[in-house]
Amino acid sequence: MFRVSKSFFPLPSARTGTAALLLAPVAIALLAACTPDNAQSTFGTAGPIAEDQANLFKFIFWIAAVVFVLVEGAVIYAAIRYRRRSDSDKLPYQTHGNTRLEITWTIVPAIILIGVAIPTLAQIWGQQSGVPDDLGEVLNVEAIGHQWWFEFRYPDHEVITANELHIPVGRPISFKIVSQDVVHSFWVPKIAGKVDMVPLNDNFMWMIGSEVGTFYGQCAEFCGIAHAHMRFRVIVQTEEDFQAWLDGMHTAPDAPAPGSPEATGQQLFAANCSTCHTNNSTSPGSYAQEINTQQARWNGWISDTENSLIVSAPNLTNFGDHITLGAGLKDLNQDSLVAWITDPSSIKIGTRMQKHAAIYRTPDGELRPDGKPGLSESEISDIATYLLSLKPGSGSGDDTADSPDSGSIDGAAVFATNCTGCHSTGDDTKIGPGLAGVGERAASRVQGLSADEYIEQSIREPSASIVPGFNNLMPPWGHLGDDKIDALVTYLKTLK
Ligand code: CUA
Repeated sequence: MFRVSKSFFPLPSARTGTAALLLAPVAIALLAACTPDNAQSTFGTAGPIAEDQANLFKFIFWIAAVVFVLVEGAVIYAAIRYRRRSDSDKLPYQTHGNTRLEITWTIVPAIILIGVAIPTLAQIWGQQSGVPDDLGEVLNVEAIGHQWWFEFRYPDHEVITANELHIPVGRPISFKIVSQDVVHSFWVPKIAGKVDMVPLNDNFMWMIGSEVGTFYGQCAEFCGIAHAHMRFRVIVQTEEDFQAWLDGMHTAPDAPAPGSPEATGQQLFAANCSTCHTNNSTSPGSYAQEINTQQARWNGWISDTENSLIVSAPNLTNFGDHITLGAGLKDLNQDSLVAWITDPSSIKIGTRMQKHAAIYRTPDGELRPDGKPGLSESEISDIATYLLSLKPGSGSGDDTADSPDSGSIDGAAVFATNCTGCHSTGDDTKIGPGLAGVGERAASRVQGLSADEYIEQSIREPSASIVPGFNNLMPPWGHLGDDKIDALVTYLKTLK
C-alpha cells in the first residue's frame, strides 16, 4: 500500500541552515557580477541596443518571477496544507483530469508566451534588418575573429587594427562579422548583444555607443584554450577624437634616432617579428596589402599547423597608442610588454606566438627547452621600447611612399624592414628561400625574363613563379612603390 513517510517534507535542520549561511556569500559574489558598474554587466548599458535588450530581459524576468512565485507558492501551499498529519489519515479521493483546469493552464501559458514573443521578435527583427536610415552616417567595420584575438578593418577608411576598436560616439556602426578559423562570438556587453563569428559566413550586427569611454568586449563562444582570454576594448570617442585617430592611422611614426634603443628595436623587430606582425599599415595601398598578408599567413599556418613558423597575428600599426596587450589582457607598458615577449603563455595560455615564432626555436627549428626567446634581455627591452614608440609622427616619416629622390633609397634598409622576416641574405631558408646568389639564379629562372625583370616580378607578383620546394605564401609586395622596388632589386643582385 502507498505510504508517505512523515519525514518526506523535513523542516530545515541545523546542518542545512549552516550550509545556506556558507553559500550565501558565494551567491552574493556571483550576483555582484550583475551590478551595473561591472565592466561586463549588461545592466549598466552605454548604447541603445544594449538598453533595449536589457529592458526586454527585465520585462521577461518579472513575468517569469510572477509565474515562479504563483506556481511554487501553490506547490508549497498544497504540500503543507494537505500533508499527511497522522497514521490514521486516509488517502484523499483520487481524480484524473479536470477539463476546465486543463484548458485554463494551457491557455494562460500560451498567452504569456505570446506576450513575451511579440517584443522579442520585434527586437530581433529590428536589430537584424540593419541600421535604420534616420540615424546618421554609418561607419562600416569588419570584425574578424582569430584564435585568440580580434582584427578590425575600416574598409571606408582603409584602416586596419587589432583588439582595440575605435568608434565615434552617437554614430551607428554597421559590422560585418566573420572568423578566420573557428567559431567565435563578438560581444560588447554594455553596447550591444553578441553575434557569432563564423568562418566563411558573414554575419551582421549594428550598434551605437552613446557614451564616450572605454568598454569591454569578450569572445562569447568557446573557441579553444584561450577563449576566456580573448577580449578586446571598444573605445568610444568624440567625432573629433575619432577623426584624429583615423588620421593618425595614416601617419607613420617618425624614424627612430640612429643608435637609440628604438632603432635597435626596429631592426630586431624586422628580423624576428615582422613575418607575423605588420606594424606599418599607414601608407596608401597598405590596407589591401595587409589583407593579402593576413591571408598568406593563414595559408602558411594551415598548410602545417604543427610546424608552421608563420601564424596570423595582430597588426601593430601605431601600437604605442594602444592601452592593452594580449587581446585586452594587460595594461600596455614597458614591463608588461617585456613580460609578454619573454613568456607570452604566462600571460595568455595557448598563444600561438610562443609555439610557432622562430625566436622561440633553436637554429635547428626545435622549440627552445626553456620556452623563452633566443634574444637577450636588452634586445627584448629594445623591441618593447620600439613598439611603444610607434605613434603617429610628424607626417614626414612615411616609409613606403615614393621618394622624389629615388637615387637615395637604401635597398638594404628596404630589405631589412620588409623582407628579413621571411628571407635571409645567406643560403638558409627562413620562411622563404635564402637570397644569396639570387641575381645569378634569377637570370635563368624564367625564359624571356631578365634577372631584373624576374626579381621585380617575384616582388610584385610572387605567385607567378614559385621556387620548387616552397609554397605560395608570399603576398604581392607592390605597395612598396616603384622606387623602393628598384632599390630592392639592385640590392638583391649584390647578394653573393
Ligand atoms: Cu574566440 Cu572564444
